[in-house]
Amino acid sequence: MVAGLDQYGVFGNPIGHSKSPLIHRLFAEQTGQTMSYEALLAPLDGFADFARDFFARGGRGANVTVPFKEQAFALVNQLSERAERAGAVNTLCRHADGKLLGDNTDGVGLVRDLTVNAGWSLADQRILLLGAGGAVRGVLQPLLAHKPRELVIANRTLSKAETLAQHFADLGPVLASEFAWLQQPFDLIINGTSASLAGELPPLPAAVIKPGHTRCYDMMYSAEPTAFNRWASDLGAAACMDGLGMLVEQAAEAFLLWRGVRPDSAPVLAELRAQLAG
Ligand code: ATR
Repeated sequence: MVAGLDQYGVFGNPIGHSKSPLIHRLFAEQTGQTMSYEALLAPLDGFADFARDFFARGGRGANVTVPFKEQAFALVNQLSERAERAGAVNTLCRHADGKLLGDNTDGVGLVRDLTVNAGWSLADQRILLLGAGGAVRGVLQPLLAHKPRELVIANRTLSKAETLAQHFADLGPVLASEFAWLQQPFDLIINGTSASLAGELPPLPAAVIKPGHTRCYDMMYSAEPTAFNRWASDLGAAACMDGLGMLVEQAAEAFLLWRGVRPDSAPVLAELRAQLAG
């Protein structure tokens, strides 16, 4: 920790390649905030003690990444509604009375990237969400808040999609599906599976893409287009985006929660994109 500065960090394991310290350093410079932000390797078998110690020593806030988001959910004194729905916490904030608030900014980060950065509307759209793990659960409430006409969750293991659809059914029209059942085009397809990590693709019928119309978003990002985005553009998707903007926007939401000021994400995203390409 750096003495005299407000302390922030990101807890993860592994954490070496995290872009969060760079993103928050750029946000702090841009907004004139005096703070430190470090990548912190939390032990796999001792997350709660590690996090408590960070805050006991004066830490003001932290991001939480793989594999600790569910443990952070269990750790806090108070949850935001979106974190409660997500079942996971990616942002911790210590109040003046010492109590820990858990928030989840992943979903709102995705929605800002889609609606503000890309300028895509979600209202009245037919949206297909691929996957039913933590990444998808984390974004369902903010997506449904934009009132899509229909949101279909398709997953390799159907039962997991069904469980999620039931859990969020009170927030809007959510359905569960197998990949093979999908025979109609969607307006927007969001890949929230971890398949891209292995360069793999969910086995999707080509019929889900209407050439020149369907827009696609992969929550993963890489220097080259992801396997999902390559597949979608080969089928004539109108536009494809990756998840680098979501990463920057979830960080901007956390920064806003901690510092009360919203950084301008565009130059930070441009810097990250340039570094990724380099
Ligand atoms: P995360 O926290 O990143 O969401 P997760 O909870 O392990 O990680 O979920 C991974 C998701 O990617 C799951 O929906 C998984 O499908 P299953 O529920 O059937 O396991 C999906 N997934 C991973 N690899 C995949 C692949 N090669 N094809 C299709 N789906 C895949």
